[in-house]
Amino acid sequence: MPESEDPQRSGDQRVTGYGGGSVGTVISVEDVNRQAAAIAEAGVSAGRVAELAGPEPFVKIERLRAGYGKMEILHGFNLQVARRQSLCLIGPNGAGKSTVLHSIFGFTDIFDGRISVGGKDVTRLSAKDKLKTAGIAYILQDKSVFPGMTVEENLWMGGYLMDKPQRAKEKAEEIFGKYPRLAERRAHPAKVLSGGERRLLEISRALVMDPEVLLVDEPSIGLEPRFIDMVFEILDDLQRGEGKTIIMVEQNAKKGLEFADIGYVLVSGQLAMAGPGKALLEDPEVGRLFLGG
Ligand SMILES: Nc1ncnc2c1ncn2[C@@H]1O[C@H](COP(=O)(O)OP(=O)(O)OP(=O)(O)O)[C@@H](O)[C@H]1O
Ligand SMILES: [Mg+2]
Repeated sequence: MPESEDPQRSGDQRVTGYGGGSVGTVISVEDVNRQAAAIAEAGVSAGRVAELAGPEPFVKIERLRAGYGKMEILHGFNLQVARRQSLCLIGPNGAGKSTVLHSIFGFTDIFDGRISVGGKDVTRLSAKDKLKTAGIAYILQDKSVFPGMTVEENLWMGGYLMDKPQRAKEKAEEIFGKYPRLAERRAHPAKVLSGGERRLLEISRALVMDPEVLLVDEPSIGLEPRFIDMVFEILDDLQRGEGKTIIMVEQNAKKGLEFADIGYVLVSGQLAMAGPGKALLEDPEVGRLFLGG
């Protein structure tokens, strides 16, 4: 291997993947990908994936091959998480992290493998049925609120699949009881909310359907630090207070791994590393590639 490509060597420099930190030499996206791919060679066994979730996995992905059209993005991906646990996916841009969430929710083409929730096979369910009958909710990345509608109307929209519209209104009231910050702004159009309030509305809207599993794509993206902490506190309450199971993707690897019970590093559509969130956070390789030094 030429010296310049030796991961050990470039590790001697102060490098940063993405997400800030002090910068000596900035490691390029290509370098992160190449070095991460080297780690991925070893892979993570299905046994290790099962071990991390414990004896009663709730959401299970087995040998998933999925993508868009004919393009395969995930190549034999496994995931397991127990009820009331949280799992965070990190990895380079384009690794397929969002595609994992899309696949669980029914937005991809699935070529092979199986996805189950609570023992029920949901591999081929439509997104609508995932939400309505399988208790899975997907919280979209930024800009998914209806700006011209009031906060209250946005919450009601979260229940559009409910058979009884009145039920959505009752759920909205429950949510207002829980988050006074939203209640104070219930009659305001969503477009006047701060970034943090908007994120709270996006999360709350998903709660109207009373999901058991929350799929959260980059909850901290575009937020100021004080709102980032707020979002993680809300997620913590949803997991530990309300017993939700959370599968998230987070570009802010430090925040995500601090939060999550289980951390996965995804590289080129394959599971490269897996461990308890805090253990991954302390892993020097993860630090070097994803935590900025
Ligand atoms: N709707 C789509 N149609 C076609 N290709 C897509 C679609 N969404 C994503 N892809 C492709 O799938 C690959 C994985 O994308 P994905 O969004 O899952 O990556 P990611 O790990 O979430 O990256 P990022 O950190 O940039 O969000 C990329 O090559 C991307 O171009
Ligand atoms: Mg993504």
